Amino acid sequence: MSRLIIVSNRVAPISEGGPAAGGLAVGVYDALKETGGMWFGWSGDVLSAPAEGISLEERGPVTFATIGLVRRDYDQYYRGFSNATLWPAFHYRPDLIQFDRHEFEGYCRVNRWLAGKLAPLLKPDDVIWVHDYHLIPFAEALRELGVTNRIGFFLHIPFPASQILLSVPRHRELADALCSFDLLGFQTAPDLRAFCDYIESEANGSIERHADAPCRISAFGKTLKAAAYPIGVYPDEIAALAKDGESGRDVQIVKATLHERKLVMSVDRLDYSKGLVERFRAFERLIEHQPQQRNNVSFLQIAPPTRADMDAYRDIRLQLEAESGRINGRYAELDWTPIRYIHRQYERPVLAALFRESHIGFVTPLRDGMNLVAKEYVSAQDPDDPGVLVLSQFAGAARELTGALIVNPLDIDDMADALATALSMPHGERQARYRDMFESLRENNVSVWRDNFLRDLRQ
Ligand code: G6P
Repeated sequence: MSRLIIVSNRVAPISEGGPAAGGLAVGVYDALKETGGMWFGWSGDVLSAPAEGISLEERGPVTFATIGLVRRDYDQYYRGFSNATLWPAFHYRPDLIQFDRHEFEGYCRVNRWLAGKLAPLLKPDDVIWVHDYHLIPFAEALRELGVTNRIGFFLHIPFPASQILLSVPRHRELADALCSFDLLGFQTAPDLRAFCDYIESEANGSIERHADAPCRISAFGKTLKAAAYPIGVYPDEIAALAKDGESGRDVQIVKATLHERKLVMSVDRLDYSKGLVERFRAFERLIEHQPQQRNNVSFLQIAPPTRADMDAYRDIRLQLEAESGRINGRYAELDWTPIRYIHRQYERPVLAALFRESHIGFVTPLRDGMNLVAKEYVSAQDPDDPGVLVLSQFAGAARELTGALIVNPLDIDDMADALATALSMPHGERQARYRDMFESLRENNVSVWRDNFLRDLRQ
């Protein structure tokens, strides 16, 4: 079989057999090991002088190829157009969009530069799979260099409705660039529909729709295929990780300090798309309206830092610190703190074990492509005594995890009611909901996602 080349902004640090990497990284790495191939992207370094060359690290049949970015490229391509323009736009936050034409040019320039670094390493029958919004112009850049290999693209974040995309300056060039891929993959059917709507209503393109196969798109003088491929996890492995971690030190500390109280738990990068402030207020509303819950339940929010050198992220951190301080100041007692807010990263096995300990997984993003935390929470539960997932209707995962209590993350009372329902949900109902969700996670695990995408790309 032809080699697989993965291209993504970040190249996952895989330690063989190690538990640190997430399901996506492991799933992709498994495919690379099967066919042999390369994982190419940014090294994560910001350099003071241009990188001399690519760093190549061989691990068995897989080569990890990474390269650093100079400060101007990091600022324009990563912090600028990717994360200050595309990220808010694609998460339905046009109010937060910042646009600077030099950043857009930097974004395109870095894509061309990266494509130029990869091109000489390619073999004629390699299959190339590009990931996420940082790399929308990547296929176009490779085509300009004469690369004719199959190239696919998977968007991990939502694709916005046309009216939102129109607010991104240069949206037409982005859509045109997307059409240079042979196959586009979206997380959910609504994301695919949003893209198709743009193609038909704004780009004068045409679409042939098929029930069980990717649709065929003609636009900008090109033809391509597109479909939804909901990304999954490896539920049995997460379950095993969670069970093994039960006796770990961190879990024992949490248990000891809970004193038999119930635990509500969330884990998110500290991003404004995650609905953290609204979530804190919902927990406050619960203990405000149901005084019997005070001192009976604690909320643990783990929110590791992300993109901390950007204003919008500094703002959300300050807001969250203010909210948790205010709510704890109002309700805490000498032996009970309602909200434990931790701005730090934990290893996946610790998180999995904590998920298993908690009675509620509280996952309420304002917008999310999929949200793998929701899937990991369900996977980690004890089948004999599972917790309840409270999930935003705006997470891609809500379409599959129908056994969750689905909430609107802007409706604080709705979320507080769901928490109350979850806290008193009978054992039989918890188990029935869990079993349904676990089965669907097994059927659509990350291998299925990857194999379906690669099958359609190779055809
Ligand atoms: C989201 C994106 C990923 C990104 C991750 C972390 O999940 O879809 O592409 O890698 O956030 O963000 P960062 O900016 O730290 O790479």
